Amino acid sequence: MGQKTIKILAIETSCDETAAAILEVEFKGKNFPAIKTLSSVVKSQIPLHAKMGGVVPETAARAHVKNILPVVEKTLLDANLNLSNIDYIAVTQGPGLIPSLIIGVEFAKALSLATGIPIIPINHMLGHLYSPLAEGAPFPHIALIVSGGHTMLVLMKNLHNYKILGQTVDDAAGEAFDKVAKLLKLPYPGGPEVSKLAEQGRPTFEFPRPMINSKDYNFSFAGLKTAVLYFLRDHPKTKPADICKAFEDAAVDVLITKTLRAAKQYKTKSVSLSGGVSANKKLRQDLRDMCKQNNLDCFIPKRHLSTDNAEMIAMAAAVKLSQDYKPIKANKIKANPNLAL
Ligand code: KG4
Ligand code: ZN
Repeated sequence: MGQKTIKILAIETSCDETAAAILEVEFKGKNFPAIKTLSSVVKSQIPLHAKMGGVVPETAARAHVKNILPVVEKTLLDANLNLSNIDYIAVTQGPGLIPSLIIGVEFAKALSLATGIPIIPINHMLGHLYSPLAEGAPFPHIALIVSGGHTMLVLMKNLHNYKILGQTVDDAAGEAFDKVAKLLKLPYPGGPEVSKLAEQGRPTFEFPRPMINSKDYNFSFAGLKTAVLYFLRDHPKTKPADICKAFEDAAVDVLITKTLRAAKQYKTKSVSLSGGVSANKKLRQDLRDMCKQNNLDCFIPKRHLSTDNAEMIAMAAAVKLSQDYKPIKANKIKANPNLAL
């Protein structure tokens, strides 16, 4: 990297991953800053929540309390740095589970107060939004963000100017994957299990594609999950793999169709995919194919950046800093479970 670089320590505890990362950042005017990941640690709580079949907020918070110090220490150790080398602390402020968010936010505030390092609160969804864009996407751009809590289509005129075109009116895409997994009694976390099983499915039936033809860019996945529920009630002997495949086909079809329509309407040059569901193989492949057929540049984060991590939080902080950002006093920052993008 060039001469003027800064280092950001980011902390992410919005749900059930305790994560920290250190990024070295060099600013490039209004473009995406050049970034180098010096370390990134994700302590997953999957085994803890698997027993309960889903994330129990208080259990998640207790695990964050236990894990946060060792995770941050390991992140510094892996980068061969100490706090005196850090220029900014970035932390996920929301949205997410409030008991989980509080741990990361209060830890970051204490660290900031004790060291004097300025703190930058980050919207978790902004982390997802920027996670595939470090290579430098041409604008205008359409971003499809699909996670456990959100499904959004975002129009970006440039790196700093974005507008939500539509979002889910009920369940998020990841939530639907998780609920279908529960209906099929698959282990937690359900999304990856459904997609794994779908690879063996050869269904002779189809599920509905809710809101695929609606004029707006909103989504609805609750009806699709209910269609699976009724189908299972009426056809209890159906192979779970066939259910998974038919469900995945329907969910992916809606996501791709609406993304393409938005890309055409807004004459965008590129499209990106992010959020936990972007780890889904079929969604990644179908989006790549759709982009190829329509001459759109396609940006999808590496798998480890798809699901929750702190690297993406540091990336969002780097983009924020590349615009005239003034850090906020630590005692003014509060975790916000409903923080809007
Ligand atoms: O972004 P993320 O890690 O956490 C939230 O911010 O919500 O997303 C988690 C969601 C879960 O619903 C999980 O089931 C889903 O992403 N997911 C997947 C896959 N991997 C994770 N859904 C479908 N296929 C996958 N391979
Ligand atoms: Zn997320």
